[in-house]
Amino acid sequence: MAPADLDAVVGLHERLIEDSAFSRFGPGVLKAVYRGGLASPSGAGWVCPGPGGGIVGFVFGARDTRRLFRDILAGQWPALAWGAAAGLLRRPGLLRRLQEIPSYFGKAGESAGAAELLFIAVEPRQRGEGIAQALVGAALDAFSAEGIARVAVTVSEGNVAPGRLLEGFGFRRARSFEFLGRKRALFLAELP
Ligand SMILES: CC(C)(COP(=O)(O)OP(=O)(O)OC[C@H]1O[C@@H](n2cnc3c(N)ncnc32)[C@H](O)[C@@H]1OP(=O)(O)O)[C@@H](O)C(=O)NCCC(=O)NCCS
Repeated sequence: MAPADLDAVVGLHERLIEDSAFSRFGPGVLKAVYRGGLASPSGAGWVCPGPGGGIVGFVFGARDTRRLFRDILAGQWPALAWGAAAGLLRRPGLLRRLQEIPSYFGKAGESAGAAELLFIAVEPRQRGEGIAQALVGAALDAFSAEGIARVAVTVSEGNVAPGRLLEGFGFRRARSFEFLGRKRALFLAELP
C-alpha cells in the first residue's frame, strides 16, 4: 500500500467496514488514520489492484498497534481533531464512541506484543475469488519474515466470512469482548 492508494482504500473502508471504530467519523478522519498509519514504522498495508485499474481489496495491519496509534495521533492530530469535531457537530452521539475507542487496548489485551491485522475488505463483486486469502497470506508472510511470532485480529461476532478466512490460516478464537456496542471475537495465530 502506497500513499497514492489512500483515497481508494479510504473509499473501500468507508463503504465496506461499517462497524469499525472510525468509519462513522467520515473520510477525513479515516484518511488521517491511514496516512499516519502508513507513515508509521508500525504500519503495513497490502492492496489488490483491479483488472481495470483501481483497487478491489486491501488489508492494513500493525507490527505494534499501540505504537501505530501513538504515531497516528502524534502525526495527524490536527486532521483528527478537526475531523472528530466536525463528526461530533453532525452526530453528537459519536462522543460516546470517541470516548470508548482507547478502551480497545485493555479489552483486546492479548494483542499487546502481537502484530495485528486491523482492517480488511474486498469489493463485493470480487468476493469469493481468493483475494482476501492472498492479501492475508502476503501480510502473514511479511510479518513472519520479520520475525514476528504472534498476530491478533478482532472481528465482529456474526461476521462469518472473516472468521472462516482466519481459521484457514490457523487463527484460533481466543475470547470475546464488547466494544462499540458489539460483541467482538479476538483471534490469535502463532507464526512459524
Ligand atoms: C471478509 C472478506 C474480506 C473476504 O474476502 P474474499 O476475497 O471474498 O475472501 P476469499 O475469497 O479470499 O475467501 C477466503 C476464505 O474466507 C472464507 N470466506 C470468504 N467468504 C465467505 C463467506 N461469505 N462465508 C463463509 N466463509 C467465507 C472461506 O473460508 C474462504 O475460503 P474457501 O473459499 O476456501 O472456502 C470480505 O467478505 C469482505 O470484504 N467483507 C466485508 C468487510 C469485513 O467484514 N472485514 C472484516 C472486518 S475488518
